[in-house]
Amino acid sequence: MTSPLQSATDASPKRILVIAYSQTGQLRAVTERIIAPLQADPAVRVHIETLRPLPAFPFPWPLFRFFDAFPESAHGVPPSMAPLALTGDEDFDLVILPWQVWFLAPSLPVTGFLKHPLAPRLLSGKPVVSVIACRNMWHMAFLKFKAMLDASGARLIDNVVLIDPGPTGATFFTTPAWLIGGRKRGFWGFPDAGLSPQQIDGARRFGLALRDALHEGRERSEAPLLAGLGAAVANPKLLISEKAGTRSFFLWGKLIRAVGGPGSWQRKPLLVIYVIFLFALIVTVVPISLSLQALLRPLFRGWLTKMKADFERPSGSATDRSHLYDD
Ligand SMILES: Cc1cc2nc3c(=O)[nH]c(=O)nc-3n(C[C@H](O)[C@H](O)[C@H](O)COP(=O)(O)O)c2cc1C
Repeated sequence: MTSPLQSATDASPKRILVIAYSQTGQLRAVTERIIAPLQADPAVRVHIETLRPLPAFPFPWPLFRFFDAFPESAHGVPPSMAPLALTGDEDFDLVILPWQVWFLAPSLPVTGFLKHPLAPRLLSGKPVVSVIACRNMWHMAFLKFKAMLDASGARLIDNVVLIDPGPTGATFFTTPAWLIGGRKRGFWGFPDAGLSPQQIDGARRFGLALRDALHEGRERSEAPLLAGLGAAVANPKLLISEKAGTRSFFLWGKLIRAVGGPGSWQRKPLLVIYVIFLFALIVTVVPISLSLQALLRPLFRGWLTKMKADFERPSGSATDRSHLYDD
């Protein structure tokens, strides 16, 4: 009888599908670190499928274009996409699906993939490793992402979350300065925008663990492959702000979508009003909800603990295996 290790090395290589989309190159860099050990392994064959929305989303973003993307993001409206290189007849052993958050929802290019007619054919029954790199508000987007994965019949086996290390308040300034102004370096005493180089390089540990798991055929089991590696640390204190934001994006998005399509001039006045409203929301709801939760922490403790564990599934925040992959 062949051992699982033999079946990976002697038999046909494991086929891995990697979905790729990144504007600034941040998520690309994370993905490259994760897949490098897989690409270097003769027992693994990696196919990278780069998503190409049509027209391309610009970077840096013109101000209007940036906010004009929120109604479709909030409503999960897939953008037009260039045809995929895949036909849907491929059979992958594992799918690595890196994605970013746009307006508290999965980014439009990734929504475009998950709602693509080929998605169920590529993903049905397949184990999927989700990899998020975003500012820090990913919790509500993760629920939407899981719903889309479920609809395609995929099996979420792991979730890695990398968030900007700066304080929440600072990232409300540094992220727009980066995405709209093209300025990544910190200013006014704020830290640089985006992930740190150490976080990006550290993503290699997930690739090493995936390689080992594939050699042992563990992608076929139900258990996560990236447990014990500090894959996802949830911050449920952000949930109240995220819920308020998601609701307001949804309602205003509905109104704005009713007056015109993406890019149309009819949207502009409503977008201006909404941006002022959003700014007021950020400077009131976020600090008020965080302060209230700090004051009422004893009452919230049970709920926060449960929410934290729920959002950290399936990979978890434990780090007991990290030392195995510190190279
Ligand atoms: C239109 C837009 C909206 C965004 N909204 C959010 C958000 O709601 N929450 C969040 O944590 N990050 C948000 N981000 C940051 C992205 O998740 C991501 O970190 C950043 O765009 C870099 O990704 P890249 O690899 O595609 O360059 C947003 C980015 C863009 C472009």
